[in-house]
Amino acid sequence: MLRERLKEETHTAHQKTESTVVRNVKSIQNEQDYITLLKSFYAYFNAVEKELSKHIDESVLPDIKNRRNSTDIKNDIIELGGDIENLPLAKVPQINNTLEALSAMYVLEGSIMGGPYIIKMLEKQGISRAFSFFSGYGQNSGQMLGAFVQVLERYGHNPETHSKSVEVANETFINFGEVFSAEKVA
Ligand code: HEM
Repeated sequence: MLRERLKEETHTAHQKTESTVVRNVKSIQNEQDYITLLKSFYAYFNAVEKELSKHIDESVLPDIKNRRNSTDIKNDIIELGGDIENLPLAKVPQINNTLEALSAMYVLEGSIMGGPYIIKMLEKQGISRAFSFFSGYGQNSGQMLGAFVQVLERYGHNPETHSKSVEVANETFINFGEVFSAEKVA
């Protein structure tokens, strides 16, 4: 099954990206710093979503409109009094077809599972609001990932396509990690 391969073969990239996110969350001292963190998430998720929308619509993923996306990040930034100007540069993975798009989206959707941990860490840093993005689907997060994975498996039924899927997912993780050290866009 493609999901098992993705989970196993992106494990190292997950750990690396997770450490980068944890490091950045732990250095937060006030809401301004939290806005900066959210802007990195926004820059990347928004850029990747633009690529995904070329290959995924409701005919591929019927509940796409109910899924968390970068608009939730924007709303959190605005709630904190920030804006989406001067974003860090985000390099998106190259995506050529629907399965590659779903493989990149697996990384974005899967990241919801880390949300509760991130919220706990933010609370320890004194942050108490603008958690809509990291809240994901709340108690339904596991179920929503399951529904997404069913679509992923359908498009990834041919094992010959799996190495390319893993490659795209790894690139999606790694490029995200790089946003945190990227130059700001003027
Ligand atoms: C503080 C940061 C993070 C923590 C603590 C964390 C933790 C976790 C945990 C515990 C799971 C497993 C959930 C389960 O099986 O029920 C998970 C799954 C996952 N996470 Fe993270 N995560 C973090 C950040 C991220 C980020 C930044 C991304 C991607 C940009 C990401 C992508 C994924 C993916 C794709 C899965 C699904 C694996 C699968 O079950 O197939 N995570 N994460």
